[in-house]
Amino acid sequence: MTEARPIAAGSKRRHNQVAITVRFATGDDASVVRETALLAFAELRDVIDPPPGILFETGDEVRRAIETEGAVVALDGEVVVGSARFEARPGYLYIGRLAVPPLFRGRGIATALMAFLEVHARSLGLSEARVSVREALPGNVAMFEHWGYAPVSRDPHHRLPHVFSIGMAKRLGQALPTVARGQSGILDEPDAR
Ligand SMILES: CC(C)(COP(=O)(O)OP(=O)(O)OC[C@H]1O[C@@H](n2cnc3c(N)ncnc32)[C@H](O)[C@@H]1OP(=O)(O)O)[C@@H](O)C(=O)NCCC(=O)NCCS
Repeated sequence: MTEARPIAAGSKRRHNQVAITVRFATGDDASVVRETALLAFAELRDVIDPPPGILFETGDEVRRAIETEGAVVALDGEVVVGSARFEARPGYLYIGRLAVPPLFRGRGIATALMAFLEVHARSLGLSEARVSVREALPGNVAMFEHWGYAPVSRDPHHRLPHVFSIGMAKRLGQALPTVARGQSGILDEPDAR
């Protein structure tokens, strides 16, 4: 469960020649999962209303979510540089709280987290991954489209029915639009070699 799976093994790595790895989180990672998400989502506090739920989650709630649902962390050496949460639901893997702090962005870390979780979904026999994106963040909708997700629903917030999220789904079996090996990126999909 806690085994680290190397994601980047290519010859081109942009930063310090250290590979990014992704592994499942355990309950003991709750603090770092929470802090990583807080750093990543802080900028949205005053951008979307209501603000992202992660900003109000306690460490105990994050630990419980990891232990009952699941989470992954991305590491650069020993430094946690990203995280995401997931939940296996009937027919699909739900992926949420995808988080990369500003300092580490633009290195393909979120792409690596998504690729890892899509492989995990397939290993569970699930043929679909889903995310939910606040409608007020069209850049995030476009980012998931870039990764092969398509809008499937428009869902009102459970407390504020005038606030909508876009449900997006991807049929698995197709690869993420990975960085082609030998080009400028650091990451390839783990099972693509
Ligand atoms: C969103 C977030 C996770 C991205 O992390 P990241 O590690 O910088 O992302 P990556 O480096 O893997 O790159 C994202 C990919 O999406 C693409 N992308 C990003 N915005 C895009 C847009 N508006 N349209 C199309 N593609 C887009 C990027 O070009 C990149 O693809 P490429 O490598 O093929 O060029 C990070 O910015 C973050 O934590 N944001 C705050 C929290 C948040 O909004 N989380 C998502 C919740 S729905």
